[in-house]
Amino acid sequence: MAQLIRVAGSVGLITLQNPPVNALSLAVRVGITDTLKRAFNDPTVKCVVICGSNGMFCGGADIKEFGTKIGGPVLIPMINDIESSDKPVVAAIEGGAFGGGLELALGCHYRIAHSKAMLGLPEVTLGLLPAAGGSQRLPRLIGVSAALSLITTGSHVTAAKALQLGIVDQVTDQNTVEVAVKFALSIAGKPLDTRRISTLSCPPTPDLDALFEGAMQMVRQRARGAMAPVACVQAVRAAATLPYEQGMQREAELMATLFTSGQARALQYCFFAQRAVAKWSTLSGDRWDTSKPKAVQSAAVIGLGTMGRGIVVALVRTGLTVVAVETQEKQLADAKKEITGMLERGAARQGVAPPLANVTYSSSIQSVAGVDLVVEAVFEDMGIKEKIFKQLSAICKPGALLCSNTSTLDIGRLASQTRHPELVVGMHFFAPAHVMKLLEVVYGPRSSAETVATAMQLGKRMGKVSVAVGNCQGFVGNRMLSPFMDQAQFMVEEGASPELIDDTLVEFGYVMGPLRMSDLSGLDIGWRIRKGTGMLDGSSGGSPAPSRFRQGRRYSPLGDMLCEHGRLGQKAGKGWYLYDKPGGRVAKPDPWVRTFLEGYRARQGLVARCIDGQEVLERCVYTLINEGFKVLEDGIAAGPEDIDMIYVFGYSWPRHRGGPMFYASMVGLPKVLERLEHYRRANPDVPSLEPSRLLRKLVASGNPPIYQWRKVIKQVRSQL
Ligand code: NAI
Repeated sequence: MAQLIRVAGSVGLITLQNPPVNALSLAVRVGITDTLKRAFNDPTVKCVVICGSNGMFCGGADIKEFGTKIGGPVLIPMINDIESSDKPVVAAIEGGAFGGGLELALGCHYRIAHSKAMLGLPEVTLGLLPAAGGSQRLPRLIGVSAALSLITTGSHVTAAKALQLGIVDQVTDQNTVEVAVKFALSIAGKPLDTRRISTLSCPPTPDLDALFEGAMQMVRQRARGAMAPVACVQAVRAAATLPYEQGMQREAELMATLFTSGQARALQYCFFAQRAVAKWSTLSGDRWDTSKPKAVQSAAVIGLGTMGRGIVVALVRTGLTVVAVETQEKQLADAKKEITGMLERGAARQGVAPPLANVTYSSSIQSVAGVDLVVEAVFEDMGIKEKIFKQLSAICKPGALLCSNTSTLDIGRLASQTRHPELVVGMHFFAPAHVMKLLEVVYGPRSSAETVATAMQLGKRMGKVSVAVGNCQGFVGNRMLSPFMDQAQFMVEEGASPELIDDTLVEFGYVMGPLRMSDLSGLDIGWRIRKGTGMLDGSSGGSPAPSRFRQGRRYSPLGDMLCEHGRLGQKAGKGWYLYDKPGGRVAKPDPWVRTFLEGYRARQGLVARCIDGQEVLERCVYTLINEGFKVLEDGIAAGPEDIDMIYVFGYSWPRHRGGPMFYASMVGLPKVLERLEHYRRANPDVPSLEPSRLLRKLVASGNPPIYQWRKVIKQVRSQL
């Protein structure tokens, strides 16, 4: 709701009240409309100040109302009424003015912000555009270029930046409402014509066409198929080229298209899913999230390779003191240099001193004795890790958490090496660990709720999206990736080019195709792991036709063979592609690979067949989804949202497609099932194509919407 009181004699103060962010719900809109009417009709009120309760101006629309039939006053006429009023209306912005909140403020004649306030139009991140006049007023106020940059990215700006851009008229460190009231009194009765943004033209911009062409090109490149950023450019173009009324019409048309698109639904699903995974629980319903986390002030990282270095940086940036341990002298020196550089560059960007004194380096594991938590990040080798956990259990202070960054290994087995298995948990970061947002927190069979809560909380402090997952080979993300990668390679064996596979998935929205991504990570990583699991069984090395059937299922030796030819990926300058130089980023199709594949198929007696993009997409993505259903069936992820957030934040799954499980719900589960059955018939030696029991059950239950899946998952699990 909104409350009107008269202050300082003749100022009408309207306060938005809808905790926590004063979202513009139906009750708030009704409240604003009513109080405005009263303020405008009351002759004793000479000017109006709009503010929000509890130090927050307004967080924008109430997302819970999206897609519902809730009616009531709409924002556009309300904002127009404010703007056309003869009484000056001043927005007093504390906390934040986002989305509809900023659009409301743009309808006011003046805006005064507290120095700590943030402002922005984040609609694009929900697959929408600022459609209460924001796309039309902001460019008129601050110019096309600055407005494009804010509206197409949804980024927020500080009050100081907003002042510099011209979004606000004044920034204060004082009580914002008091400053706004005083200011409102000082302008009461003065002309407002130049303050009505909708009546202004955009400030002149040289070569507008080139500006929009460049913006459109950049947005399309970044958007990976998302429609909203493109619509945002079109709406701003309307602001720059059409009268206000027509621009508003264009804004409404574009919004209507976005609103009914699956993309907006997917992005809104992601918004809620991200919040849902933070309230973690196991599928069996244990509300572990109610456990109180332990305080963690200091940590140690063991192993300063690719991952360890990023983890140290991420922990230090969170304010922890960190002991960094590495046994190899050269690695230790290199790590120190790299970590120092990363901390210095990060601090320079923020204009603060680098927290270098918060890291100490050591070649001895004994130096971790006093820390609250240890993250182990040594080679992916069970023997080495087991030994380290045994040592840690003896060295660390009582109650210290022992975490592993393993990407595949059994957390329970590591825990069994320690005196307190309840203190052992997986903290699976993604490379580079100081940048990537995802953290899988892997609970072993004996991890305590307090331990899991502590790791989840630490992840949150580090700015990560922490997802609690169960313990199995590859956990959630890598377990699902494995059959997806298999399909990519199987299709190359069958006749597809690496480019067809990668281009198809990039067109779908991935940043990079799977084979190009393997080149980037290094083909030798998987090769080494497979050697460890006995998967190589010596038959690819030198053999003219290595076996395509191992451990009871179809196997593609192509990746191993590339490694044996020294084609380890980008770092070697060659892998599935040819690079401009070792470590170079420009990938080109390689005639050598083509000849190699032709020879391989001939030796294997394979006749290349024509594979199209649809088959690539279906076989890769539906197999990934099928494994996702198996993960749910096994209780490794608590719900589809957990899987989707893992894929959005850790595996570059296009957010506007909502995550693999949401995508499956959009495609329709009967179709996913039918295509999997089709490909399974054609590939009887690929068990990962066998549709999961849960998928079948969901189809048999009438293809329920995704938010009802948990009920069916529970049924399937109770029958196991
Ligand atoms: P890496 O090979 O780059 O680094 C491992 C480091 O551990 C080396 O510097 C090595 O000298 C050191 N080390 C070995 N034994 C040690 C000991 N006893 N004490 C102290 N240091 C020791 O490996 P990377 O890629 O950083 O992987 C580390 C762990 O993180 C592995 O378990 C891996 O599966 C996991 N991981 C790797 C990801 C990646 O993208 N590279 C992603 C997520 C997890």
